[in-house]
Amino acid sequence: MYNEINWDGIDLQQPPPEEEPARQYYFIKLLKGWMDGIIKEKGRKLSCCVNTFGCQMNSRDSEKILGILKCIGYEETGSENADLVVFNTCTVRENANLKVYGRIGQLKKYKSKNPGMVIMLCGCMMQEKEAVAKIKRSYRNVDVVFGTHNIYKFAELLAMKVLDSEDSGKMVVDVWEDAEIIVENLPAERKYPFKSGVNIMYGCNNFCSYCIVPYVRGRERSRKPEDIVKEIEGLVKDGVSEVMLLGQNVNSYGKNLEEPLSFTGLLEKIEQIDGLRRIRFMTSHPKDLSDELIEFMGRSEKLCKHIHLPLQSGSSRLLKIMNRHYTKEEYLLLVEKIRKAVPDIAITTDIIAGFPGETEEDFNETLDVIEKAGYDNAFTFIYSKRTGTPAATMDCQIPENVVKERFDRLLKVVHCTTARKAEQYLGKISDVLVEEVNAQEEGYVTGRTGQNYLVHFKGDKSLIGSIVPVKLCESRGFYYYGELAGE
Ligand code: 5AD
Ligand code: SF4
Repeated sequence: MYNEINWDGIDLQQPPPEEEPARQYYFIKLLKGWMDGIIKEKGRKLSCCVNTFGCQMNSRDSEKILGILKCIGYEETGSENADLVVFNTCTVRENANLKVYGRIGQLKKYKSKNPGMVIMLCGCMMQEKEAVAKIKRSYRNVDVVFGTHNIYKFAELLAMKVLDSEDSGKMVVDVWEDAEIIVENLPAERKYPFKSGVNIMYGCNNFCSYCIVPYVRGRERSRKPEDIVKEIEGLVKDGVSEVMLLGQNVNSYGKNLEEPLSFTGLLEKIEQIDGLRRIRFMTSHPKDLSDELIEFMGRSEKLCKHIHLPLQSGSSRLLKIMNRHYTKEEYLLLVEKIRKAVPDIAITTDIIAGFPGETEEDFNETLDVIEKAGYDNAFTFIYSKRTGTPAATMDCQIPENVVKERFDRLLKVVHCTTARKAEQYLGKISDVLVEEVNAQEEGYVTGRTGQNYLVHFKGDKSLIGSIVPVKLCESRGFYYYGELAGE
């Protein structure tokens, strides 16, 4: 485990070792020494700010970066006016990229006042050649660019920049096409002490025709079950009661392991970890959701009663062009099967409006599935053209005004169905994991039910991290006001 490292045993007089993660521990130690010197010189630690764009995968990667930074001795700050700023970027939709360019531009004002400031960019957008070329061309204030496959090398990349005695001012760019190894046992700094994301696999093999993820996150690679279980056991010892198992398509976990194991097989091992109270997972591709998993969801004591099952479109014709490998009817049958096995399960989804060639009939099929599936929540997206994906060059891209109009209709239907759904739980008592003090309302705390609904109720910070019964009194869409239920 990471916290068992013998730092004294690392000899900085020797060249860095080749093997990982020993090589990174070497650079962390080197940077710790450098930081000690700075503290003596400046009388303070250097500050850092790691900002995440995009999904939970990125949030977890950022926790790993922050873990390394804290270990080196950086002090975290919420402001981008810091000595080191890291942007962990997303590129799933075009506006994600635009947001990042805007934010890098805004850093110029800080760097002009603090020329020693280091700016590092990583994440999915950096896997795109055009994005990196643009950064090299137009954003010379950036110091280091790396990708999704070499995040574990963070300490080494930082050392290359800050320990460069000649300080050539050159941008360090290190982006890999794919990953050869999964490096275990690096530090991570959790946002919440009581819950944590846990990567179970990386990459995606599905190549949905609109999606850039397989190009920027590479092919599917599963972590070994023993490494996952060991990590969760360590987290539980450290106070974690809920884990979110992360992967682009968790249902295909384990297929490429030396000793293949199904996702359900992995869940069965995790279920047995003493002290772990709740297990979540994200995301499930409908085509790979097995009967074995549905049956396990019905009997598991720890799996939360929530599944995220992206629909994307309700039109079988479009689903085929999207390369999703299921029809509208198969999807609805799957929903029925899940509800039968786990009656009070919450189902959420992702939906794209305006995929190339989408007709009014196709769109109405999507609205029809929303009505029939009875979603608890739906994340809705306007189709965004991603260069390099098959959909980007398809004929019949839908005009913006048509998509906007459909998107508005989609939102209305989603709001109506989810509000109706949320009313079903009114008056019920639900176990809530308390996450934080409510910043907007004094005297209130906020937590999540197993079904992943947010609940605000009267309470104080002593409740944070505990799981308590709360009566759901008033529904406001995807969140409730509740009352702590008597013992
Ligand atoms: N345009 C719009 N939405 C997209 N998604 C993925 N690619 C695109 C795209 N090109 C959505 C899908 C996916 C979610 C994470 O993002 O709905 O499930
Ligand atoms: Fe993208 Fe499809 Fe893979 Fe999800 S399953 S990450 S939508 S390619």
